[in-house]
Amino acid sequence: MVAGKKSEPSVRYALIDCDPGVDDALALAMGFASPFFRYAAVTTVHGNVSARLAYRNARRVVSFLRGHLESSIPDVPVYPGASLALDGSRLNRSESRMIHGPEGMGAMFDKKRRLPRLGRGSSKPAWEVLVGHALKRGSQLTIITLGPLTNLALALRHAPEVFSRVKRIVVMGGAARMPGNVTPAAEFNIYCDPLAAKEVFSSGLPITMVGLDVTRRALLSVDEFKGGGSFRAALRDLIRVYARFAKKRRRAENITLHDPLALAVAMKPDLVETASCRVDVDASQGIARGMTVVDLRENKESRVKNPVDVALDLDVKGFLAFFISHLREYRGWDVDEE
Ligand code: BDR
Ligand code: CA
Repeated sequence: MVAGKKSEPSVRYALIDCDPGVDDALALAMGFASPFFRYAAVTTVHGNVSARLAYRNARRVVSFLRGHLESSIPDVPVYPGASLALDGSRLNRSESRMIHGPEGMGAMFDKKRRLPRLGRGSSKPAWEVLVGHALKRGSQLTIITLGPLTNLALALRHAPEVFSRVKRIVVMGGAARMPGNVTPAAEFNIYCDPLAAKEVFSSGLPITMVGLDVTRRALLSVDEFKGGGSFRAALRDLIRVYARFAKKRRRAENITLHDPLALAVAMKPDLVETASCRVDVDASQGIARGMTVVDLRENKESRVKNPVDVALDLDVKGFLAFFISHLREYRGWDVDEE
């Protein structure tokens, strides 16, 4: 505690590290509508889009959401982050463009819709922001990562000791008993920077891994976005390309809420059932690059070192109701005011 400053023991702070990205934007929408967390910062990273676009998209989304909230929230600052994986590699984003749209936000900010002003930005690098908030907020801080783990790994390399005080780190990424989504072995966020993921998962910090085992079941019907007012129309545009891709790939009229689920778990951990296991990551250039190897063997001894809470089961109905109830908080979800 800084001398002279009053402590705020009951305040829960969150820092979201993301690569918006359609489902990243939906996660921010859900989170900001709840008083559960006070958002300390949004940091951005390469992934679904370039680091430059992720930073810009996050600033636009934050300002757009604030403009539609009934209860005003503070202007959450957005920070730019890493543009390459720790090993210097860069992903080919051709499939990401098909999933999230050419600039990552589906059709939400297409020319016909007036662009929201850019929210508060900064030139401070994300890793430094992560270190600063871990130091300042300690056990009041939850970190939620919705993209590749590069920023967090960099922060851990710079100041590992400060992170032992944070409450929890919730990671959207990986797969324990499921195939990957970007290769047969790897989930996208981990595949983008396997070395970063390896360092984070072996850190011994209190981590919850919210991977494809549960996010693949977090499917929301596109019908939920029909009708309503201008806010719902904007989200309809946001998900248009994402939903089209899902329909082509899975022949389903629904979207996968990967990132919203990770943030929901940070707010309501009992939405998932977890197992405490070691998680290692293949950071090689081989066919299993980016695979999370989760030790689910019965032999407990193999699991004790630096365990991670891995989500294996999900209360699907409970989560979908939780998600939608938050979107209802926005002006223009149901009808627009005259
Ligand atoms: C993850 O990959 C990205 O495309 C999504 O935003 C999500 O974070 C799912 O594998
Ligand atoms: Ca993401």
